[in-house]
Amino acid sequence: MQDGKSLGIRLSDLRIAIAGDLHGQWDATDERLLELIAPDALLVVGDLNDGQQQIPARLSRLQLPLACVLGNHDTGRDSSGRTLQRQLAALGDRHCGWGLRELRPPGLAVVGGRPASAGGGFHLNQGAQAVFGPVSLEESVSRIVTAALAADPSLPLVLLAHSGPTGLGSAAGDPCGRDWKPPACDWGDQDLALAIERIRRRRPVPLVVFGHMHHRLKRGQGDRLSFCRDRAGTAYLNTAFVPRHGTDDRGRPLRHFSWAVFRDGELGEVSHRWYSPEGELLYRQVLAAPLAAKQLAPC
Ligand SMILES: [Fe+2]
Repeated sequence: MQDGKSLGIRLSDLRIAIAGDLHGQWDATDERLLELIAPDALLVVGDLNDGQQQIPARLSRLQLPLACVLGNHDTGRDSSGRTLQRQLAALGDRHCGWGLRELRPPGLAVVGGRPASAGGGFHLNQGAQAVFGPVSLEESVSRIVTAALAADPSLPLVLLAHSGPTGLGSAAGDPCGRDWKPPACDWGDQDLALAIERIRRRRPVPLVVFGHMHHRLKRGQGDRLSFCRDRAGTAYLNTAFVPRHGTDDRGRPLRHFSWAVFRDGELGEVSHRWYSPEGELLYRQVLAAPLAAKQLAPC
């Protein structure tokens, strides 16, 4: 008997919803919406709020397979690290900073970048240092690489970070470009870029997801480029559409998620999506289209 794959028939889509920097915008409506649109997994890139407990607690109660990495705002500007530690405790093993989280089902390996990053090369803020101790650039790279190489090679791999990597451009509107003060520069994370390079010597990295650098640029500079692909085929998605709760010009409420589909292990559609609270897809910005359907094999 031939299986679906040998016939070129699409076996399954793995549909991932991604919530960009929440900055407090997560509530029961988002949870109902997730039930309606029913992704296979949810990824969250941090900056849930400013150290408050409510959102980590809500995320930890979700039944959906979930992986999260915390952002700089999640330290609550608490240099003692206690606020960050409470967030980590609430999320438990859903938090994958510097670690591996395999989601089974649906069959996805998620590796987290450095927790609580504020971008800008390599800098551990005081709260993160209080929790994790002094971690060098090389140690941070090594933790990310080790986690990725421990992942089941048969699962698609997503790197999940609060700040994206260096190397994606130095203009204000690039995926990790500094827009809030001149001169514009590359504000990505150096450790994440080095880790990606090393992981790719051993296995592909199809998708890197991050936030932190909001889509709407400061000082009236327009909108950020939120997606790109490098020469090695790795796709980079900045998911920080902030605020993620809004309304359209007809006054209809909108909720933003980014969306990524793996089709038989290969990255297909990547998009930004804006849903009504009732689950209607009202707007979609397609960033990457699915690969052409495979040809049916001859009988
Ligand atoms: Fe941030």
